[in-house]
Amino acid sequence: MKVNGQHFRTIWLHPTNERVVQLIDQRFLPHRFVVEEVSTVEQMADAIRQMHVRGAGLIGASAGYGMYLAAIEAGPSRTGSISAKEFDARLTEAAERLKATRPTAVNLAWAIERQLTGMAKAKTAREKIELALRTAREIATEDEENCRMIGQHGVNLIEEIARVKNGKPVNILTHCNAGWLAFVDYGSALAPVYAAHDRGLPVHVWVDETRPRSQGSKLTAWELGQHGVPHTIIADGAGGHLMQRGAVDLVMVGSDRTTRAGDVANKIGTYLKALAAKDNKIPFYVALPSSSFDWAIRDGSEIPIEERGAEELKRADGWRNGRMWEVSVAPESSPAVNYGFDVTPRRLVTGLITERGVCKADEKSILELFIEHAS
Ligand code: MRU
Repeated sequence: MKVNGQHFRTIWLHPTNERVVQLIDQRFLPHRFVVEEVSTVEQMADAIRQMHVRGAGLIGASAGYGMYLAAIEAGPSRTGSISAKEFDARLTEAAERLKATRPTAVNLAWAIERQLTGMAKAKTAREKIELALRTAREIATEDEENCRMIGQHGVNLIEEIARVKNGKPVNILTHCNAGWLAFVDYGSALAPVYAAHDRGLPVHVWVDETRPRSQGSKLTAWELGQHGVPHTIIADGAGGHLMQRGAVDLVMVGSDRTTRAGDVANKIGTYLKALAAKDNKIPFYVALPSSSFDWAIRDGSEIPIEERGAEELKRADGWRNGRMWEVSVAPESSPAVNYGFDVTPRRLVTGLITERGVCKADEKSILELFIEHAS
């Protein structure tokens, strides 16, 4: 997608130094556009943990590049060679370090396992490093292409509503950031919105602020604005009110992990939006690439829910006089608990938008699209 008219992905290999990965450091958006250079596994683990990069698809792509950096680090130093056993032990250790950064988005473990399985087939350290780079690039490119396809399938839903609304804007409510910043490009929940806007369909997005990290007001609003999509930021609790007033035609959110039976883990607060949508008979769609399915589990209660530090709730940051400031917004002595995600049960989900098409949120329908996971 474009930033000030220039095309960017969220992560890429340095154009002249193959040992360096570049990524958009999202902590500074929307105030500053900062590109960070990462050249060690530890730096990549930190970038994921501290949310310089975030969002399911981008976490997966970052982990893919992280494993490539791990392979470089595990390889022979200038002074000596290394046994295959030692190389693999270093890789396993790096994999565990990366996996431990964030527990909910399944793309993280998926990308790491894909790298480990791939590298296990190569013999020499040099082959393993080359393969890891190829795989990291593949993971990123697939993520981009899958999101593009989600846009192509999801736009039909918006088009149908636009026909009925006869020229009036289609109002879409979204929670958190499941736009291109959460993936390598295009996004999941926002990909159909961009596709609709590019086709000239009138769309307007209600952007949930999404406390405590404010991915909605900081990131979703910024990227929609960069693309010229009309949008309005609302407080997290405002969605139900707007639905009751007939101001929401469709809810579209992303997912960090969806079970094979269709239960959806997404940013905390998503479940409440799904309940309100059900009560107001508003379609509630979840957009996700297949890398966000957890094929090993059926019940959403099995999904690990990240708990982040209480300081994210009790403090807020903002931009003033050319720098970021953090301020206290709660009594220092009050305890706080900061759940990152919740699970929306499949009965509240109208449908899933994937790169292979739209399906119902149930195991049979999901497996009709992804037959290779049937057993
Ligand atoms: O904690 P984050 O910012 O990594 O949260 C993940 C998300 O971006 C959202 O839950 C999103 O809606 C789904 S992931 C594309």
